[in-house]
Amino acid sequence: MLQKFDPRNADIQVHVNGELLPREQAKISVFDSVVQGGDAVWEGLRVYPEGVLMLSRHLDRLRASAHALAFAGVPEDAAIRKALGDTLRANGMTHDTHVRLTLTRGEKITSGMDPRLNTTGCGLIVLAEWKPPVFDNDRGIAVITSSIRRMGPEVLDPKIHHNNLLNNILAKLEANVAGVDAAIMLDRNGQVAELNDTNLFALIGEALHTPTTTSCLGGITRGLVLELARDLGWPVYERDLSVTELMGADAVFATGTMGELTPVRTIDGRSVGNASGSERLAALRKAFHQAVPGLCEAV
Ligand SMILES: Cc1ncc(COP(=O)(O)O)c(C=O)c1O
Repeated sequence: MLQKFDPRNADIQVHVNGELLPREQAKISVFDSVVQGGDAVWEGLRVYPEGVLMLSRHLDRLRASAHALAFAGVPEDAAIRKALGDTLRANGMTHDTHVRLTLTRGEKITSGMDPRLNTTGCGLIVLAEWKPPVFDNDRGIAVITSSIRRMGPEVLDPKIHHNNLLNNILAKLEANVAGVDAAIMLDRNGQVAELNDTNLFALIGEALHTPTTTSCLGGITRGLVLELARDLGWPVYERDLSVTELMGADAVFATGTMGELTPVRTIDGRSVGNASGSERLAALRKAFHQAVPGLCEAV
């Protein structure tokens, strides 16, 4: 599905390196590391009336990613929370909002790859936009299997949530050409890793199955769904899953902050799922919506 411009976002204020600026003036330096080498880490956050969902978990992942990349001068959590709160208040955003939080290695003294050229600490961008969940979670999505593999730790560890998104973008291009919503990316062994922008799950009989995080992002929504399924008493397996297993599952669904829980309707043109899978997925989505208010953090 192709997102559309939301006119409510025409006059938003964006937090860039300590300043709240109108959208048109919200710019970063050509010397910033994210421009030079995609040298940045990020989080997608969703705002509900009760606050930002699982903000502490997102900030922990951001900090872990920055640490793995040896970023210097990472702002304290309190400073990031303040920048986030200031941005949401400036825009009057209390619901249906998605935030793209980007932490860059900062500006370089001259163009170049070497992190020693960064002498002024990290850059922080808080981009909050009006954005209800992006998929039609009742109708579901159609997906294909991409020829582009998701990188594992042998190339670039997906446990770092970084801005080098080109392999995901190449997979999304294939989905666009095929006229579907997203693309399944396989790991180096041909097992399912995830969709180009969300994690994948299969309901098979009584149990919930999902790939391990060796070659996919350890999604925050993924983590919550695993907890909720365990609370419902469902057996949960993190294991290798093939595309064929997904095609034969009772239900397949994607998870992410951007779109919550989204059923997968077709894979490579084959229909997916059945009535009992839909019922179980509906129960899980209900548990998710019931859990959200208690997991939100005010900023
Ligand atoms: C490749 C990829 N997979 C999965 C996800 C979903 O992760 P989360 O549930 O933390 O939003 C994202 C979100 O950033 C992503 O970029």
